[in-house]
Amino acid sequence: MARLLGFYPYRAPFEASGKWKQMAKFNPFRPGSVISPGMFVGRFEEIQVAEHALLQTRNGNPQHFVIEGERGIGKSSLCLWLDYLAKGDFPYDKINRLSFVVVSVELHEGMNYDDIVDVLLSELKRQIANRQQLLESCKKAWEFLSRFQVGGVKYDRPAQPVTDHRRLDELTDVLVNLIEESGGSIEGVAVLIDEADRPASAANLGQLCKLLTERLARRRCERVCIGLFGLPGLLGKLKDSHESSLRIFNILTLEPLEPPERIAVIEKGLEEAARKNQFETTISEEAKAMIANLSEGYPHFLQEFAHCAFAIDDDNNISVDDVLDGTFKEHGALNQLGKKYFADLYIDQIGSEDYRRVLIAMAESLDGWVSRQAILERSKVKEKIVDNALHALRERKIIFLNPRVRGEYRLPTKSFAVWIRAREEQKAVEARAAIQAAPSS
Ligand SMILES: Nc1ncnc2c1ncn2[C@@H]1O[C@H](COP(=O)(O)OP(=O)(O)OP(=O)(O)O)[C@@H](O)[C@H]1O
Ligand SMILES: [Mg+2]
Repeated sequence: MARLLGFYPYRAPFEASGKWKQMAKFNPFRPGSVISPGMFVGRFEEIQVAEHALLQTRNGNPQHFVIEGERGIGKSSLCLWLDYLAKGDFPYDKINRLSFVVVSVELHEGMNYDDIVDVLLSELKRQIANRQQLLESCKKAWEFLSRFQVGGVKYDRPAQPVTDHRRLDELTDVLVNLIEESGGSIEGVAVLIDEADRPASAANLGQLCKLLTERLARRRCERVCIGLFGLPGLLGKLKDSHESSLRIFNILTLEPLEPPERIAVIEKGLEEAARKNQFETTISEEAKAMIANLSEGYPHFLQEFAHCAFAIDDDNNISVDDVLDGTFKEHGALNQLGKKYFADLYIDQIGSEDYRRVLIAMAESLDGWVSRQAILERSKVKEKIVDNALHALRERKIIFLNPRVRGEYRLPTKSFAVWIRAREEQKAVEARAAIQAAPSS
């Protein structure tokens, strides 16, 4: 069982030789990196929709999708999963595999229209260069791609309004040539664009997608599927860029994982650890449930909580104490999450405890609208202070004001609310510990 110790994540390494074994133990939970397909859990509906889009595209009826969701909800992990699926690294129905060329890219702030086309062309070139059979059959496509060079792309130039579509025409030509010349050896091209919300609206990603699909249709090249992944702001940017660009996409929102899926993430992780470490690390049912509940289904929270509990455990059996230690210690999971995701919102900008109490009162409703009256009742903070807090929090864009209903406010994201609530849990745990530690009279 873990004891509260003064540092984290490992105990005194030289204390006893057995500790080295603990330190070297492979930790299967990886906050901060996309999940590998073998450890991936859930997302059945989204996978089904994307799979359907790929199968339709293969048959000449191209379909496109947008996967949007909060930071850390699992967009890039799903993107990687679909990349493997489209390439045929694993079967889509236990037997058959797809064989798409996958152009998977990530966008950056400051990219403009031509930069986006350039990264697509670069990645397409990289993909084809790796495939001897395509190099031999797709002569025209390769002739262009082999000459194509991105001249040290700089992503800090201002986004320019689109003046001509030369780059887009080139991309269209290459895709048409590639698919025609491949003679059926590839089923199509899947263009997967992650971080699609990052360029400004003026980069016109929505227009680019719309024009590309229209141009391909005009050339009777109907085997390109586009998938975009980004924060919820992506939809607004696509719409700003082209009124009707949203119409070409099936739009899916990623939600937190369901309770059984949260448990599956933990169990899969421990199975992987057992395989790699060649000894088992077990977890009590209560500890598992605590990680699942604290995370409220946010995959990045799950990974962080599970990672810290696993790291702090020293008897290869993760207990409730290990979870509590790992979560609430000074450099534990909650602080890590705070620094990585919410520092600017909560820690750096809010000095006053009363302001924090206002946020805690709002977090009871996750990211739903809360009336000023409810905030007053829940927070028990004086009216004037609540009003000042609401004003200041709004100014700093930490909370939003309902444009339709006067006096209603909400937090920007559900995960921010979950994090605030988990921090409150810490206080409850500390209070319980203090009561237990108090000498009984
Ligand atoms: N389906 C899943 N099963 C298990 N773990 C997952 C799943 N999806 C995501 N994760 C884990 O959650 C964390 C966040 O995932 P990911 O980076 O894919 O999210 P994201 O939405 O792309 O985040 P960002 O908005 O910061 O780009 C990672 O640690 C990842 O391993
Ligand atoms: Mg991501």
